[in-house]
Amino acid sequence: MKRERGAMTALYPLPVVLVTAGAGDEADMITIAWCGTVNGSPPMAAVAVRHSRHSYSLLCRTREFVINVPRAGQADVVDMAGLESGRAVDKFRTYGLTAAPATHVAPPLIAECPVNIECVIRHQLELGSHDLFIGEVVAVHADEELLDEKGGIDVARLDPVAYMEGEYWSLGARIGEFGFTAPIVRQRTQAAAGAADAGTAAPAESSDTGTASARPSGES
Ligand SMILES: Cc1cc2nc3c(=O)[nH]c(=O)nc-3n(C[C@H](O)[C@H](O)[C@H](O)COP(=O)(O)O)c2cc1C
Repeated sequence: MKRERGAMTALYPLPVVLVTAGAGDEADMITIAWCGTVNGSPPMAAVAVRHSRHSYSLLCRTREFVINVPRAGQADVVDMAGLESGRAVDKFRTYGLTAAPATHVAPPLIAECPVNIECVIRHQLELGSHDLFIGEVVAVHADEELLDEKGGIDVARLDPVAYMEGEYWSLGARIGEFGFTAPIVRQRTQAAAGAADAGTAAPAESSDTGTASARPSGES
């Protein structure tokens, strides 16, 4: 039995990140949970920012941002940066974080965050309480120790933070990988094709030779 709860935000888990905006001494960071990957080619990411945030005016002015992905061990900084405004405090200095130069944009990277995604704003959508800033990813930096032998990011080593219903969570166990159901899907597709050809259900083929398709680079 389900209970309707009305119109609300209810999509979990959310990644939670520190977004840097502004340049030089005015650079600020804001904790953002309403964010995500929104395009593959070119790669794009989006962040939703309320008009009242100090970071909102910086984003509108400099049209660039960096998504800094924190580790679970940095949840305290994530929380603090989401409670105080850069109008009142220098968050870099207060939290003892290092503003490192980005390679393609003006806002700095947070050196202590293991992954930094540099973005140039291509679209700004007024949604209501928040504007959605859609940025083209122009560079990604990742700590060497996170990279696997193929250059991909080993998420177990990254240990990112999820935000759900006002709580910070770290991720649990790995439960599969892209394409792990491919043998089942293939078998079903072949059975359907056989049934269409013969007018009867085709015998199920062995699926033990099926291998998962190559995982697309971050595409969903
Ligand atoms: C876990 C968490 C998630 C948040 N997500 C968002 C968000 O997605 N968008 C937003 O505008 N504010 C979000 N906030 C609130 C801002 O981070 C907060 O108002 C911050 O102090 C603004 O900083 P600024 O004024 O220096 O830009 C979040 C806060 C927390 C603690």
